[in-house]
Amino acid sequence: MKFKKNIIKIAVDGFSSCGKSTLAKDLAAELGFIYIDSGAMYRAITLYSIRKGFFEDQNLNSVELINSLNQVNIDFITDKNSNLITLLNGENVESDIRSLSVSSKVSIISSVPEVRKKMVELQRQMSSKKSVVMDGRDIGTVVFPDADIKFFVTADIETRAKRRFLELVEKGQNPNFEEVKKNLTERDFLDQNRKDSPLVKAPDAILIDNTNLNRKEQLELALYYITKTLC
Ligand code: DC
Repeated sequence: MKFKKNIIKIAVDGFSSCGKSTLAKDLAAELGFIYIDSGAMYRAITLYSIRKGFFEDQNLNSVELINSLNQVNIDFITDKNSNLITLLNGENVESDIRSLSVSSKVSIISSVPEVRKKMVELQRQMSSKKSVVMDGRDIGTVVFPDADIKFFVTADIETRAKRRFLELVEKGQNPNFEEVKKNLTERDFLDQNRKDSPLVKAPDAILIDNTNLNRKEQLELALYYITKTLC
């Protein structure tokens, strides 16, 4: 594909488990861009906070977290199969950050403004010199308000819960469907209602409802918009 510009930024936002990471990864592979999973970064900080004992049940000691932010380093590498691996202070935490215990606390961590500030800085640094596809909740609104194209992905809650349930089963976990669905509903609510950078569709984002689309159809639809807008 030949673009009008050298460096392109593609923002993919949407609800939990709506397929936005799949779309973002497929787009990056198809276009030869780097892929950044911003949710993995919030998950990694959450894992760090759990391990450090910053939570007492669901209550976060945000002062302790904020004071230790400069000791948290998050990075990505790709393995030999081109899968993205999240590193927390050099350790591969890709599997641990997908657990339900991290999922149930990540919205609390991601509502802390100091955490968001640090993540946004890192996200901009990681993509300053290369074309990128980044997925998350605030990419088109906060991280790259000037993105070359923005997608907002959605699907109905039953479909999303089934997808996340199967994903956890495939990873060898033993999820409970109702718990998975409850976690998604709660995160949707918290993500949309937090004060700092709430999940909202940017006015100029293209809406993709993939409830009835398969992976290939969703990719083709996004590529159609990209060709129309950027080539
Ligand atoms: O995409 P995900 O489900 O792995 O994201 C995990 C959580 O991280 C999500 O519930 C909200 C938060 N998040 C965020 O606040 N901002 C982002 N850009 C990405 C994720």
